[in-house]
Amino acid sequence: MIEVLNLKKRFATAVALDGVSFSVQKGEVLGFLGPNGAGKTTTMRIITGFLIPDEGTVKVGEYDVLEHPLEVKRLIGYLPEDNPIYQEMRVNEFLNFVAEIRGLTGAEKRAAIERVIETTGLESKYKKTIETLSKGYKQRVGLAQALLHDPEILILDEPTTGLDPSQIVEIRRLIKDLGKEKTIVLSTHILPEVQVTASRVTIINQGKIVAQGTLEELTQKAAEGESTYVELRANPEDVEQTFSSVPWIERFQRVEERDGVYRWAVRGPEGQDIRENLFKLAVEKNWTLLELWRERATLEEIFLHLTTEEVPA
Ligand SMILES: Nc1ncnc2c1ncn2[C@@H]1O[C@H](COP(=O)(O)OP(=O)(O)OP(=O)(O)O)[C@@H](O)[C@H]1O
Ligand SMILES: [Mg+2]
Repeated sequence: MIEVLNLKKRFATAVALDGVSFSVQKGEVLGFLGPNGAGKTTTMRIITGFLIPDEGTVKVGEYDVLEHPLEVKRLIGYLPEDNPIYQEMRVNEFLNFVAEIRGLTGAEKRAAIERVIETTGLESKYKKTIETLSKGYKQRVGLAQALLHDPEILILDEPTTGLDPSQIVEIRRLIKDLGKEKTIVLSTHILPEVQVTASRVTIINQGKIVAQGTLEELTQKAAEGESTYVELRANPEDVEQTFSSVPWIERFQRVEERDGVYRWAVRGPEGQDIRENLFKLAVEKNWTLLELWRERATLEEIFLHLTTEEVPA
């Protein structure tokens, strides 16, 4: 449904996109995940035809964005990052205004407005002036305007930023419902957002795609990053020398120490449970074993790992 190929975009002071490629299948909800400044908004503005790339192409449905900007805009409903709505208008006035821009008139227009008001749960607010609404309801108005022409695709740029926790839950639920019928690209810099709404994730950092896959695939990758933790009261030099010499330890790192108790993260060969070996080793060496457990790297850690220069300790 959307094919993004090798997008590059440079601003006067920064390279925003450095060869971004990904695709979105029909019916999919893609979480576009990345930290501040990663290039999410720039990518979305290019997909929606509001910004021209230096290099690369975007195809939406049948259409190339640069060659057929109007057709592409018809296929897409876009909720930009700063939700540009007219604060002084009433909700119904604003939706009427956008519907007319979208070329809707008469009964068709009225039906479209009714439909989006129902979809976004704005029934009790449609006569209110937008500036008097809570942020969550303003965001619903933003979503409603994106839905007026009943587009196949929704591009939502950080739709829950700045909302309080209960509003976040409601907007996510709404997006999830919309995802049953539409193809959605949803940008966010927080992982839980994609965990609750998206079926697939593309992670962007510093203008480059650093990982993509389904949540299951990324979780699987996280499992490969499984470490065994061992806490010992023992001479740390002795322990580390021993760790270096046994064949079933591939890597280890001292992660904590206090009052003569030390903790290591230990990696064995892939897929092998090394807890028993560690237990026997401790007995053999007469180390006091205080704790021993396995821990998977969480998706959160993977995200941090992929998006920070220095791997956090
Ligand atoms: N109009 C512009 N002029 C100059 N630099 C820009 C412009 N728009 C974006 N940038 C720069 O391009 C980079 C990518 O910005 P972009 O807004 O796409 O990131 P983002 O992932 O949306 O970040 P955020 O999570 O903060 O919204 C940043 O370094 C930003 O400063
Ligand atoms: Mg942004």
